[in-house]
Amino acid sequence: MTTMHASGHRALFRPYQMGSLLLPNRIVMAPLTRSRADSEGVPSPLAPRYYAQRSGAGLIIAEGTTVSRQGTGYLGGPGLYTDTHVAGWRPVTDAVHRAGGRIFVQLFHVGRMSHPDFHEGALPVGPSAMAAGPASELYDYVHPFTRPRALRQREIEGVVAQFRTAAERALAAGFDGVEVHAANGYLLDQFLQDGANQRTDRYGGTPVNRARLLREVTTAVIEVCGADRVGVRISPINPTNGSYDSDPAATYGQAAVDLDRLGVMYLHVVEPGVNGTLSEPASMSSPYLGSRFFRPLFSQTIIAAGGLAARSGTARIEDGDADLVAYGKLYISNPDLPERFAAGAQLTEPDRHTFYFGGAEGYTDYPTLDRALTARVA
Ligand SMILES: Cc1cc2nc3c(=O)[nH]c(=O)nc-3n(C[C@H](O)[C@H](O)[C@H](O)COP(=O)(O)O)c2cc1C
Repeated sequence: MTTMHASGHRALFRPYQMGSLLLPNRIVMAPLTRSRADSEGVPSPLAPRYYAQRSGAGLIIAEGTTVSRQGTGYLGGPGLYTDTHVAGWRPVTDAVHRAGGRIFVQLFHVGRMSHPDFHEGALPVGPSAMAAGPASELYDYVHPFTRPRALRQREIEGVVAQFRTAAERALAAGFDGVEVHAANGYLLDQFLQDGANQRTDRYGGTPVNRARLLREVTTAVIEVCGADRVGVRISPINPTNGSYDSDPAATYGQAAVDLDRLGVMYLHVVEPGVNGTLSEPASMSSPYLGSRFFRPLFSQTIIAAGGLAARSGTARIEDGDADLVAYGKLYISNPDLPERFAAGAQLTEPDRHTFYFGGAEGYTDYPTLDRALTARVA
């Protein structure tokens, strides 16, 4: 296979020192829920192969993984709150490390994005008793959203403890670090956004108060992993999961400043982008509240994500907006994405029908460039 940078995307292939981790390139595999875990949240036996196939990434961020049963809301989603989960993840991290890769896990609590069926009939929890808006079409297989009950103050400590314990389990499972999921309208994002958080205690009201749970959770995870092994994902403008904030610049600007003070290693910014684009010209990530906005507010590594292709990702790095760039859908269908970018090779389109659930099809059977070429010649 060629490793020439025929396409001129050299910036993507400059190694990057992120804390104590040396990343061989700037290409990150974005966290991608694939809904192939068993009913108890144990990763699929195919997961080690799936992730190892993608270990050419500078960094893999494994799919959203729940910190507790209370934090679940999706069938087929993995967890990290039992020893069985740890045992299920261990082969994944081992396979990635054997293949020369690095892998973080994205930890989350879905909050109100759940249903009583997941909780023996009890209501899911959120910052306030407010239901999410209509779900995006990507997530249309879930139940309609329920009006949650507001978490009591003392229960919030429990949520922090869930993240802490899950971070301990993440290390026990061999992950190189943890990404705290504060994006896409899940619990931590629900607390951030005034469209979901109407609390009148110290967890609601001002941006500083709404960012309190994120600070507490991140502090706990840092105590377990060390700051240089912890990143946080945010999505300042993203209607996914019916989330909304009236002043995202103030809300997420505050969150970024707070996270910087905690010494978080990276801020992962989901930029307002157009979903589902593979071709360069159609990639229209908006600079508004994208990675550039956060550069002056956050001193460590910035990862940009959302609708990026090779050229736009290269531009983010060359323009100094981001240090690393994450790819989601492209990584589903191109296990060897860095090699393809380097060679300027054609990309495989992902098949949306196999994004979630099922087995190997659309999961571990996307060909590498070598195999695609051989197949074409044969
Ligand atoms: C099938 C699928 C599953 C996803 N799962 C997650 C997830 O678990 N956590 C998360 O933060 N984002 C998730 N996302 C969002 C992606 O990480 C990414 O931000 C989004 O797809 C935009 O980037 P892209 O245009 O490169 O795909 C998911 C997206 C897709 C398409």
